[in-house]
Amino acid sequence: MTQMFSAYNIIQKKRDKGKLSKEEVSWFISGLIKGDIADYQMSALLMAIYLNGFDKDETVYLTDAMLYSGKVLNFPEQIFIDKHSTGGVGDKASFILAPIAAACGVKVPMIAGRGLGHTGGTIDKIEAISGFKTDISLDQFVTLLKDRGMVLMGQTGEIAPADKKIYALRDVTATIESIPLITASIMSKKLAEGAKGIVMDIKTGNGAFMAKLNDAKKLADSIRQTGLRFNKNMMTIITDMSEPLGCAVGNSLEIIESIETLKNNGPADLTEVSLSLAGGMVYLAGLAKSHKDGIAKATLALESGAALEKFRELIGNQGGDKRIIDDYSLLPQTKFQFEVNSTKNGFVTSMDCKALGMHSVLLGGGRQKTSDKIDFAVGFIMNKKIGDKVKKGECLLTIHCHESQLAMAKDIAQAIIKKDIVIKSTKARSRKKLILDIQTKFAPKLKTKINKSR
Ligand code: URA
Repeated sequence: MTQMFSAYNIIQKKRDKGKLSKEEVSWFISGLIKGDIADYQMSALLMAIYLNGFDKDETVYLTDAMLYSGKVLNFPEQIFIDKHSTGGVGDKASFILAPIAAACGVKVPMIAGRGLGHTGGTIDKIEAISGFKTDISLDQFVTLLKDRGMVLMGQTGEIAPADKKIYALRDVTATIESIPLITASIMSKKLAEGAKGIVMDIKTGNGAFMAKLNDAKKLADSIRQTGLRFNKNMMTIITDMSEPLGCAVGNSLEIIESIETLKNNGPADLTEVSLSLAGGMVYLAGLAKSHKDGIAKATLALESGAALEKFRELIGNQGGDKRIIDDYSLLPQTKFQFEVNSTKNGFVTSMDCKALGMHSVLLGGGRQKTSDKIDFAVGFIMNKKIGDKVKKGECLLTIHCHESQLAMAKDIAQAIIKKDIVIKSTKARSRKKLILDIQTKFAPKLKTKINKSR
């Protein structure tokens, strides 16, 4: 017999700081999908959760209800491992770590998102490669994954449709920045991919959604605990996002920087984060004795060129033009560039990373409205990073824009010089530590015996 609940009573219970049961949460979410719960009732519950929180059990109930609102894949093998980032500026690590992990024998199912706010999206970036198909069906996703070992597709309505609806409501009701709601949103999508383990890159700093380290740690804990309750091997890595990762920001520019990194010519910070995340995937898959051993294997795959070949394969598998690996002129690029030069001598001490991300969006590298078309060619290249010495007149960054955008580029340059890149005369502290915290938990049932001879 179906238990009868009332939306009013459930909202009231959470408003008054009560604990919701699995049945209540599940009834509410399935009602939302069926159209029995109105958007204003869901919005009220979201605000009650935002203000009064959800404990670990309630977070798991919400994740479960959102997960089973759509299709759930299941791959019994242990070697299917995914990675997800909470989003940042210039974060192109997926294009490096996925081929590295695949070259080490990990199967990588990646369902990635588009740009959100000031942060770029993996799917927008890869679409800078002519012909690359991201709107494949779930059946094609499974076939490619099983046959080729690595696949990258965009969000589909078949995976966690409740998240799509709830996210749209959160976006307009000021309820995004809630740890249980972020956990359920991310994990419902990740768990549906059927991977046996997930490596989460949780960004912190002024370019991240979780600006404070303490909040990032709480989110990491919530995500790990929730993953474990669904029997997944979990690793959370908190990484700094107080300046763009690497030097390139913008879709084509980030693809070029990713390929350069796969050719062992990448920036140190991007290479370090990518190797740590890829090493984590190798470890969670049971193909390394420890995270350190995973990083060593990942380094070998990068340095040998095996990962570059895997990236070439990925592009080919999904219909993209593989020639871009050796000929960057085949990627969309602007003919015009505009240098932003320092007006004083000193040291770069900090950046407004979020503002830098927004400049790229404004140029057309991201969307201001969902209907906006992405301009793959625009963006910028950082010439200086935090801690670097700068001379008056020296280039801080180069804006890649169209000649018609000259006035906008000049405005952006003014903002960068006045406030977004802070230069002080005294020697800055060296760059903040890049990797701030790493925690790993294996699901008890999945613990892998490591062959000592490996
Ligand atoms: N990314 C998601 O998918 N969901 C959130 O709530 C925040 C970031």
